[in-house]
Amino acid sequence: MPWIRVSVAVPGSEGEAAGACLEGLGAVAVTWCDAGHTPLFEPLPGALPDLAAWPEVRAVGLFSLDVELAGIRSAFRGREVGIDFVGDEDWRGNWRRHAEIRRFGRLTVAPSHLEVIATDTTVLRLDPGGAFGTGAHPTTRLCLAWLAGQPLAGRRVLDYGCGSGILAIAAALFGARATAVDHDPQALDVTRRNALGNGVALEVRGAEGFAPSGYDVVVANILAGTLVAEAERLQEALPAGGRIALTGVLDEQVESVGAAYPAIAFEAPRAMTGWVLLHGERR
Ligand SMILES: C[S@@+](CC[C@H](N)C(=O)[O-])C[C@H]1O[C@@H](n2cnc3c(N)ncnc32)[C@H](O)[C@@H]1O
Repeated sequence: MPWIRVSVAVPGSEGEAAGACLEGLGAVAVTWCDAGHTPLFEPLPGALPDLAAWPEVRAVGLFSLDVELAGIRSAFRGREVGIDFVGDEDWRGNWRRHAEIRRFGRLTVAPSHLEVIATDTTVLRLDPGGAFGTGAHPTTRLCLAWLAGQPLAGRRVLDYGCGSGILAIAAALFGARATAVDHDPQALDVTRRNALGNGVALEVRGAEGFAPSGYDVVVANILAGTLVAEAERLQEALPAGGRIALTGVLDEQVESVGAAYPAIAFEAPRAMTGWVLLHGERR
């Protein structure tokens, strides 16, 4: 069944009120997204977004086709109101349409529904389900390329913020003993399923109460604020000589994230489309 989608851009502080207004006008579902380019914020699983953290948000309402559009326009007079049609979609399965096979040095990442005919690389099969980590995002790609360049056989690897488990599984396929950690139970479920699909054994666990130590390699693709908040835990996970890769960091956040990791001797950062991977060795 097709729907009418109405979106209104408002200051973050008015996001909730705009959502309530859309609901009052008959929206069957309301969501919000960043209306600018300020990827500085990630809600805890199950938590509602703190809309005021964004300068501007877009409140989006889904309406049945017989909605009274004039009423919506007049409720949001003076604001930019976007209206379009959307079909019924398999939202969770949609990634498949855009998924492609990608190569990262000695690793090939292939969506579970595509066949890899011939390759001399290790193949990682992936279905991200509802979790982040298809291998398409620049931060995941930076991490995979970095991991593919590390000696991992027999090493202990910590993937902190595992999402779909893509990084921990890549490490395990290269012979590492990998631990995948996330604070989102859905991500942990998806990681377990993907590990099974790739025939690798991972330690999969929640973040609460986790005090990692003795890892040879740590990789964390989470946002800058979380990397700073978790800096002590992630540095403590490594002995001297241990290697770390941190991403989810924007150009302008490199300095503040680096400063939170005084125990790490960083090497030249790697970058892709505005995202940066910081990497180095524990002193
Ligand atoms: C950007 S995704 C990265 C997923 C995957 N590792 C990748 O590289 O594609 C970040 C993941 O970190 C998790 N995360 C965010 N903050 C966290 C925290 N404080 N502790 C543990 N996990 C966290 C999120 O639930 C999400 O699954």
